[in-house]
This record gives sequence, C-alpha cells and structure tokens, in this order.
Amino acid sequence: MSLFRLDTSIRTEGSVSREVTDTLEKAYLEQHPGGTVIRRDLGTQPLPADLWATAAFAGYTPEDQRSEAQKTAVATAKELVDELLRADSIVVGAPLYNFGVSQHLKTWIDVVITDPRFAAGVENPLAGRPVAIVVARGGGYGAGTPREGWDHGIGWLSRIFADVWGGAVTVVEAELTLADTVEAMAALRPLAAEVREKAHQQAAATGKEFAQSAA
Ligand SMILES: Cc1cc2nc3c(=O)[nH]c(=O)nc-3n(C[C@H](O)[C@H](O)[C@H](O)COP(=O)(O)O)c2cc1C
Repeated sequence: MSLFRLDTSIRTEGSVSREVTDTLEKAYLEQHPGGTVIRRDLGTQPLPADLWATAAFAGYTPEDQRSEAQKTAVATAKELVDELLRADSIVVGAPLYNFGVSQHLKTWIDVVITDPRFAAGVENPLAGRPVAIVVARGGGYGAGTPREGWDHGIGWLSRIFADVWGGAVTVVEAELTLADTVEAMAALRPLAAEVREKAHQQAAATGKEFAQSAA
C-alpha cells in the first residue's frame, strides 16, 4: 500500500497545502499503519526548467542518436512515472501562484507526459486511481466574489489528472490563506479559519477513504 505525495509549495514554514496534505497522509497511515509514502518535493527540489524541452525533443530523436542530456532527461521522466505508478493513491499539494499552478508543477506534468506511458493518445494511464488535489490560495475565489473565475490552476489540474489521465479526482480547497498576515484582510480571519478547518476535515476523510479503497 502506498501513497504518492507531491508537494509544490515554495514554502516549508507556514505552508497551508503542506499542512492539509499532512492531515490526509496521517489519516491514510492511520487506516493502514504498514503503508508507505513515496514523496517528491518540487518546492524544495524543483526539476530543471529546461528538462521538459530536452525530454520532449529526445522523443523525436532515434534512441541511438540521443545526446547525453537527452538520455538523462528520458531517464528522469521514467523515474517520475515509475514512482507515480508505484502508488495506489496520489495527493498533490497545489498552491495558487499568479492565478495558476506553480512553474515546478507544470514542469513535472509536462515531463511526465514525455514518457510513453503518459504520451498523448494513451488513454487513462491512472485508470481510476484516487487522486487528491489540495489547493491553497491566498485570496477568495467563491461565486459572486470579484475574483470568481480567476483561479486558472484547479481547472487545468483537474483536466490533466481526471480527464486526460483518468484519475478519480477529489479537490480539497483552502482559501483566504493570506488573511492571517495581510492586515487589509483582517475581517476575513474567522471565515479563513472556518475554510481551513473544513479543508482539514475533508483531507482526513479523503485519506481514510483512499486507504480503504486501496485495501
Ligand atoms: C509568488 C506568489 C504568487 C501568489 N499568487 C497568488 C495568486 O495569484 N492568487 C492568490 O489567491 N494567492 C496567491 N499567492 C498566495 C498563495 O496562494 C498562498 O500563500 C498559499 O497559501 C500558498 O500555498 P502554501 O500555503 O502551501 O505555501 C501567491 C503567493 C506567492 C508567494
């Protein structure tokens, strides 16, 4: 039994996506004490930004003509996909940066897609595997708010993990995370605390459910 945990917050202190993902992981392991967690932390150990282009062009180059950099890029893509597919459940911490996903997460997804097991045309490589996407965002994006429709991260992530890769996606959202530190958002602190508590509760339920469905 194993959970693949992908962290992408560029913070290690005070990161809400990491805290909520911790809750999910804890619930998963409580349900299955012998389970393992396969970790990759793109926030602290990002993939090189040019890895994707190198891996993509390697795909158009006959194997015996590939450069050393292309061989390394192909091997890295293989390693990323191996660790992803080794897990029965997946959790991705996904902060909102500049109204989209982190550059590091985008690179990881692009590189995964260069591997033949996730290439365009391969249907549902995750084949119904449970995936939790834990979103953390500083502002509020709910219906009727001025920023409604401005979160361009979660829509794209859901397209990739659910519609393209065939995962069974659960979205856990914590928003207004900047309320604690931004004085102009002080009035929103009680609401932010409520939203965060709900995210932890949903993460705990999701971790338990993932462990049960994998058993
Ligand atoms: C460079 C940067 C860009 C950000 N851009 C946005 C943004 O576009 N919208 C938003 O609501 N919050 C934005 N935030 C705030 C983060 O989404 C928020 O702090 C979130 O909690 C980060 O995840 P973490 O707590 O796991 O680190 C940004 C933060 C940083 C550092």
